[in-house]
Amino acid sequence: MKIIAINASPRKNGNSAKMLDSWIEGYKSVYPDVEVERVDLYTLKYTGCRSCFSCKRKNGPFYGTCPIKDDIHDLVAEVYDADAIAIASPTYFGNINGMLHSFLERAMFSKNTYHMNHESLAPKPVPVTMIYSCNCTPELAEKFHYPHHWDDLEAEISLVFKHPVSRVVAYNTYQFNNYDDYDVQMFREEDKREWRDEHFADDRRKAFDTATVIAHHIR
Ligand SMILES: Cc1cc2nc3c(=O)[nH]c(=O)nc-3n(C[C@H](O)[C@H](O)[C@H](O)COP(=O)(O)O)c2cc1C
Repeated sequence: MKIIAINASPRKNGNSAKMLDSWIEGYKSVYPDVEVERVDLYTLKYTGCRSCFSCKRKNGPFYGTCPIKDDIHDLVAEVYDADAIAIASPTYFGNINGMLHSFLERAMFSKNTYHMNHESLAPKPVPVTMIYSCNCTPELAEKFHYPHHWDDLEAEISLVFKHPVSRVVAYNTYQFNNYDDYDVQMFREEDKREWRDEHFADDRRKAFDTATVIAHHIR
């Protein structure tokens, strides 16, 4: 049994990473011996899809796979063999960040066919948990349509991975240790700290619980 946990934040121990680690802990609480591959995308050199269409060339050697040989070459294939995966992303300009978008282009386009029903070439269903962290409060996230962005993305992911996507969100995240050192007039450090102390443990708990539910359903 193997799970893959992908951190799309440049911060290896930031909000996304902590949420992701809770998801891993949750899974391990059910399967202590599960093999865990944890990946920090920002440590890897890669591009998004290069539109070569090798993955769609009839009878071609790369049909259904991505031929680009860079640091995510193996990972974009391995995610389809995993028992479950989790992907944690900070929100940049209202959506997942660029590194994750590039990764998903590569991982998903090769399996996402141009057949009439967009049938997926994934060999089996893989439960995916999407973990988002954002500076916005839930109210602001709603106002700026973040849930719609997530719905759209998760619809694509569930189609390609052949399984409904689970979602966990951490709102109003604490961004840096000393707010006084930064020009952030919109926020008060005390408010951010208070929210973090009141909510972030619950957010991590939701990531943990989501993983336990998935793990219990696996076998
Ligand atoms: C380039 C950049 C753009 C951001 N844009 C948004 C945004 O549009 N909405 C939001 O809620 N937070 C935004 N944020 C804040 C981060 O998403 C938030 O602090 C997140 O929790 C950081 O996660 P991390 O600690 O895992 O890096 C942005 C941060 C950066 C660096």
